[in-house]
Amino acid sequence: MLQPRTNVAIFSLFLVLSPSLPATESAIGVNWGTISFHRLRPSAVVDLLQQNKVQKVKLFDADPGSLRALEGSGIEVMLGIPNEMLAVLGSSSVASDLWVRQNVSSFVGKGGVAIRYVAVGNEPFLSSYAGQFQNYVMPALLNLQQSLAKANLAGYVKLVVPCNADAYEADLPSQGAFRPELTEIMTQLVSFLNSNGSPFVVNIYPFLSLYGSSDFPQDYAFFEGTTHAVTDGVNVYTNAFDGNFDTLVAALTKLGYGQMPIVIGEVGWPTDGAVSANLTAARAFNQGLINHVLSNRGTPLRPGVPPMDVYLFSLLDEGAKSVLPGNFERHWGIFSFDGQAKYALNLGMGNRLLRNARSVQYLPSRWCVVDPSKDLSAVTNHMKLACSVADCTTLNYGGSCNSLGAKGNISYAFNSYYQLQKQKSQSCEFDGLGMVTFLDPSVGECRFLVGVTDASSAAIGTHWRGVLVWVLVLWGVWVFEV
Ligand SMILES: *[C@@H]1O[C@H](CO)[C@@H](O)[C@H](O)[C@H]1NC(C)=O
Ligand SMILES: *[C@@H]1O[C@H](CO)[C@@H](O)[C@H](O)[C@H]1NC(C)=O
Ligand SMILES: *[C@@H]1O[C@H](CO)[C@@H](O)[C@H](O)[C@H]1NC(C)=O
Repeated sequence: MLQPRTNVAIFSLFLVLSPSLPATESAIGVNWGTISFHRLRPSAVVDLLQQNKVQKVKLFDADPGSLRALEGSGIEVMLGIPNEMLAVLGSSSVASDLWVRQNVSSFVGKGGVAIRYVAVGNEPFLSSYAGQFQNYVMPALLNLQQSLAKANLAGYVKLVVPCNADAYEADLPSQGAFRPELTEIMTQLVSFLNSNGSPFVVNIYPFLSLYGSSDFPQDYAFFEGTTHAVTDGVNVYTNAFDGNFDTLVAALTKLGYGQMPIVIGEVGWPTDGAVSANLTAARAFNQGLINHVLSNRGTPLRPGVPPMDVYLFSLLDEGAKSVLPGNFERHWGIFSFDGQAKYALNLGMGNRLLRNARSVQYLPSRWCVVDPSKDLSAVTNHMKLACSVADCTTLNYGGSCNSLGAKGNISYAFNSYYQLQKQKSQSCEFDGLGMVTFLDPSVGECRFLVGVTDASSAAIGTHWRGVLVWVLVLWGVWVFEV
């Protein structure tokens, strides 16, 4: 553990060397998660990023399909390492060497993938994990740093640890401090980050504050002024984002690293499944955030110094995510699962509006609904079963499909399941209660989806079929010639 004196020394040295933080050009990036039943082809996603001039993307793993699609795109990438892998990476340098070789070295280089960051774990200090990943973080970081150095990549690829904002707390921003039980590990972490020139990465969610607390002032979550400003000494906070950001700045300052660059790893607003999760609010929040960050105003504790980078959560809806956090969890995308823009958003990178994904391959235009002529007394179990696998979260109070009525609910559930099953005909059976229709049952904002083809596995299928044909042809030629 570093002595406070050492921290002060490093701190003042830093001040001497760079009197102010470098004027950062904040960039808006996106999180690309893939927990979906209807995945767009990775190449279509990369095209979507490029169409929207997005220059930075954060992944939650090192999916080779996504990485191959990013090759040559010039888009900067933050790879992710799932928490479950930290233990092995921390205990074995062989494992960490292999991880770096397979997931970083083999992709970087000319014409490859611009992997600039590796996120070691995802919110590993989250209170609800009760410390289960905590002790693996530093060993994993140290091993991976060695592995990067061995691969000659230590200068190019920076290790970071995305933390949830629950790592610190305070009533007022200036009093910010890391949770007492994290003080020691945070001291080690920020010292490590500092010595490698890495930023502190934090995920900030005003939506969750609003969702989780009935007395959280609604307008304090947004960026349009508030009737509930927070006064902290001479500083006045008019939005939760700045208040939260400065709480972190104060916590870092207490450890002697008040100048450490901060990256927002996740921030966003969901659009469905709960009352305050709607299109209007999501647009207001995300546009307000982007304008605020790009204005370079910074915050009261860091005037003129906005976060280094901001990764919106999220690029696409992910319909297969766990709904443990709430029914909104599958609806964070600025695009729906199929890459269609949900609302008008100017990312501040040249396009006034979002551009939709191109050449999305949908399944045929057909839907599964309940047959209204049938006796529906036994339908509840079918509906429950369908919704236990497929996504029905838009049916909930506050969701876009909440006013469908009883039969509409059943049809929605049936269709959601049918599409998840790639429209296999048995999947619209439901003991004779389901029927396929060619008329779009969508009403108003409530969209009955049509799935997209899992083109990546379809492509692999075709590819292998192609190989098989050639093998047979060659074999035929061989047999013939013999
Ligand atoms: C590379 O990353 C992928 C995806 O996160 C993971 O499944 C795989 O185990 C990693 N490779 C190694 C050698 O650890
Ligand atoms: C959308 O969410 C905002 C923020 O919570 C809320 O004020 C508004 O009433 C919601 N709008 C609708 C149409 O539900
Ligand atoms: C439809 O389903 C939702 C979610 O389960 C429920 O809240 C709503 O009351 C249902 N509507 C009817 C008319 O049963």
